[in-house]
Amino acid sequence: MQTDRLHMAIQKSGRLADQSRDLLKSAGLKVQATKNQLTARATNFPLDLMLVRDDDIPTFVADGVCDLGIVGLNVLEEYRLGDDQDRCEIIARLGFGRCALKIAAPADEEFTLDSLQGARIATSYPRLTRKFLDEAQIACDVVTMQGAVELAPRLGIAAYVCDLVSTGQTLEANGLKPVHTVLESESVLVRTLKTIDPVKRLKADALVTRIDGVIATAESKYIVLNAPESALADITRILPGADAPTIMPLMGHQGHVAVQAVCQESVFWETLEELKDAGARDILVMPIEKMML
Ligand code: PRP
Ligand code: ZN
Repeated sequence: MQTDRLHMAIQKSGRLADQSRDLLKSAGLKVQATKNQLTARATNFPLDLMLVRDDDIPTFVADGVCDLGIVGLNVLEEYRLGDDQDRCEIIARLGFGRCALKIAAPADEEFTLDSLQGARIATSYPRLTRKFLDEAQIACDVVTMQGAVELAPRLGIAAYVCDLVSTGQTLEANGLKPVHTVLESESVLVRTLKTIDPVKRLKADALVTRIDGVIATAESKYIVLNAPESALADITRILPGADAPTIMPLMGHQGHVAVQAVCQESVFWETLEELKDAGARDILVMPIEKMML
């Protein structure tokens, strides 16, 4: 790896791998498709990707081996609890890979948090689990497992589990039910707190700006509509997450205006119905391809 290129750690395979690559693609990066390789190079930006196990990403970024990384908040927070100093910072929440670390109990059991007292709980997230138990003042043994945590109750390893839940299928298939959320998670963009060379730093900032733009456009829509001037106050209030809209007179339609606005939140059918009820007509909602804030 060349030292003048940015290094970013992303998951090699697994729940975040494809979406991490998609995000970079949306940010305009062309990355070689690789199979069974540890690195991949962007051909139109000074960036090398390191394709690694998600659990290794926080270490690589904290140690400065990688300048940036995309990782689940769950993995990052587990790492941070074991690190004596904070050596990486979250610079953006990416909105994909949403899941939650949850405590689960046998589906047929009447559960309260008190049930955990004196019991055993299996998890791949021992630090987050321990922190939760300590804060709730629950004395419960934490059994660390690297995978297949959902099998622990059936194997008699532990009565309860603390595991990642996304669709909930894994728990259900194993006769378990979620009973308490320990951490809500999604993928985040992280940056090393080690000093990076100023030139690389500029490149990193440029890439982060692009990624911010991609995140912003994912939810944003451009809305155009016509309305009577008297309805403007109502309409501006209804437009979701819009800054000051542009208002233009409509030729030949005294008292009517065209309104244009960038909405930074999802625009639902319900929103359009509300706008129409408020007096808006000819409402157009358009996707935004690129945005730089
Ligand atoms: C997690 C978790 C479950 C599954 C839950 O594993 O350990 O096995 O996902 O997902 P579901 O609610 O949609 O069924 P993950 O895929 O992250 O793999 P890992 O345990 O190897 O990191
Ligand atoms: Zn993992």
